[in-house]
Amino acid sequence: MISSNYLNKIFCGDALKILKNLPDNFVDMGITSPPYNKGENKRGWLVKNVKYSASSDKLPEKDYQNLQIKVLNELFRIIKEGGSFFYNHKLRWEKGELYHPIDWLRKTKWIIRQEIIWDRMIAANIRGWRFWQVEERIYWLYKPKNKNLIGEELKSKHALLTSIWRFSPEKNNSHPAPFPIELPTRVIYSIMDDNKGTIIDPYCGSGTTLVVAKILGHNFIGIDISQEYVNNSYQRLKNFENEKIKVIEELQKHVVNKTFQDRKKNNKFTGRFSNQNKKQKFIEVSLFDNKD
Ligand SMILES: C[S@@+](CC[C@H](N)C(=O)[O-])C[C@H]1O[C@@H](n2cnc3c(N)ncnc32)[C@H](O)[C@@H]1O
Repeated sequence: MISSNYLNKIFCGDALKILKNLPDNFVDMGITSPPYNKGENKRGWLVKNVKYSASSDKLPEKDYQNLQIKVLNELFRIIKEGGSFFYNHKLRWEKGELYHPIDWLRKTKWIIRQEIIWDRMIAANIRGWRFWQVEERIYWLYKPKNKNLIGEELKSKHALLTSIWRFSPEKNNSHPAPFPIELPTRVIYSIMDDNKGTIIDPYCGSGTTLVVAKILGHNFIGIDISQEYVNNSYQRLKNFENEKIKVIEELQKHVVNKTFQDRKKNNKFTGRFSNQNKKQKFIEVSLFDNKD
């Protein structure tokens, strides 16, 4: 089957099984937030427990990590050389033992290009064993091209956004754990810029990644095990126009007016946020000399 037969569809089923049937090297990039294997027993005091409609989130940790490695390696095969995958996860503790996503990411074929902190500013549990964990992690995984492990430079207008992303969790969505729409927007626009291609999300839930892909003019491939979520996502995609505003707001953060060199020359502040201005205001500078 030619790869175009897979485009702009949402497959209902197990991610690993479906990924195994997709061709090699035809997708440009992807982003996902998998089930976190949280055992469904963690009581959230501020936010409801996460329970998906068609799957349990309860595997022996070793089996869970092995499954994630297999899924990530299938994605590595499917994504083109020079392509990227963004993997959202978090640090978890079980009976005092830390499970860090790096534990299994290092066992995949991907190059770990960056760890991004997603500051959600709120999270389910506040108990006193640790400081209130309000962050999640986003791993930028990279598939080398021509044995170059570093890859191409990001344009300044994307790279200036820093490695700490502050987005509140999404509230207007019936799915138990949706992305805020700004998050896949930042990921996809930073990597694809004005190029068009194909974006995959193998645990696409309410379809947030797919809606962003559509708004930005890309093809998409979604997978989710829940028929209910797949149906809802198709419905959401039909009304994608209604979600453009937040996507456009995120795109407006990708702006460079002055390079660092310009600012330095004029003796202007070159840090991220100016101390003189207590309101955290964007200083639109470029890391490099190009004003893209
Ligand atoms: C964290 S949610 C993803 C939410 C999504 N990012 C969004 O914006 O709505 C994880 C999703 O994985 C799905 N899922 C769980 N097990 C799966 C499996 N084996 N294969 C495919 N999807 C699965 C769940 O139904 C759930 O929708």
